[in-house]
Amino acid sequence: MPLVPPYIESLRPYEPGRRIEEIRQRYGLKRVVKLASNENPLGPSPASIEAMRRSLNGIHLYPDGGLELRARLAEEFELKIDNVITGSGSEGIMSNIIRAFLCDDDEVLTTEAAFVGFQVLARSRGVRYRTVPYRSWRYDLEALAAAVNERTKIIYLANPNNPTGTMFTRQEFDSFHRHVPERVLIILDEAYFEYAKDHPSYPDSMHYRWDNVITLRTFSKVYGLAGARIGYGFARQELIANLLKVKLPFEPSTPAQAAAIGALDDKEFLHQSLALNARGLRFLTASLGEMGLDIVGSHANFVMAALADGEQAARLTEELLKRGVIVRLLEAFGLPHCVRISTGTEEDNEFCVESMRTALAAAEGGLCLK
Ligand SMILES: Cc1ncc(COP(=O)(O)O)c(C=O)c1O
Repeated sequence: MPLVPPYIESLRPYEPGRRIEEIRQRYGLKRVVKLASNENPLGPSPASIEAMRRSLNGIHLYPDGGLELRARLAEEFELKIDNVITGSGSEGIMSNIIRAFLCDDDEVLTTEAAFVGFQVLARSRGVRYRTVPYRSWRYDLEALAAAVNERTKIIYLANPNNPTGTMFTRQEFDSFHRHVPERVLIILDEAYFEYAKDHPSYPDSMHYRWDNVITLRTFSKVYGLAGARIGYGFARQELIANLLKVKLPFEPSTPAQAAAIGALDDKEFLHQSLALNARGLRFLTASLGEMGLDIVGSHANFVMAALADGEQAARLTEELLKRGVIVRLLEAFGLPHCVRISTGTEEDNEFCVESMRTALAAAEGGLCLK
């Protein structure tokens, strides 16, 4: 008997985006911008830093298991505390969902090239992992509903989706939901919810709660707290009660909870971050599109560009790195010919577009666009 099961042995560990300091040193650069991990370029809100700082006075005490933040979220979204869970990032909750609900013979169903964090977690459980192709870079919800079989236990949907940035509408989701049996748990990952929530056809899952849907959200994106590791989820009481049985007793940490509560109180920072992102999205989509890149329309805080093949995408990523712009090559997601570029500050975005112009010109032999 091998010590490590084959489904673990064959995994590749998650590779975080490249670090600014590493790239600065490797290429001897003064200016490096990281547009690779969909973080908030404004940083965290001053209110969350202050709340985190205050919480440090009690750092010798164990955390309360998320109780204070659950109560605050219940108040914010007008729910009962029993319908709310918190965790070490939304990925922490995803990991608990996989532990709590999957049995060995179950199957997980999602789109091709789904969010890589989910792929790693699901595959590490050793269950069958099935996917359905995108249709024009959007989830094909009809095909997903049709692919459900008697072993399907979990369907994972991210809306807006990472890495494509596309979203599905309320009508599409309603119709999908009607075709999925109640015994299948739908994970609705709304990590980028805030960026899309004002779109008239965005299906905000809070407006209609279904028994087999668990919503996941995060403080890592628009709230600028990716390093604190804090996320939350909503579901019916029975699902939450079972997740509470398997979660690590002391996650999330006290400073992470405090930071999240501080962030929820700072609506001005939220609006400022959303406005900056909207301008950045428009600018990157238009400018990169004008250069001939095939850019997918996005509802999140990043855009995806599809190149002719993996070699071209890798070359472009490298040319950008040399110029101090870190973007994400999407090989690990299963899209080796695509790169993802997060929005930055206005200066970052301009630097990115300028660097893209020279990178495209310098890429040996030119890149074959569109
Ligand atoms: C779709 C999606 N879900 C979840 C996450 C992870 O969020 P967290 O930092 O809360 O674990 C990300 C981060 O990139 C994401 O893109």
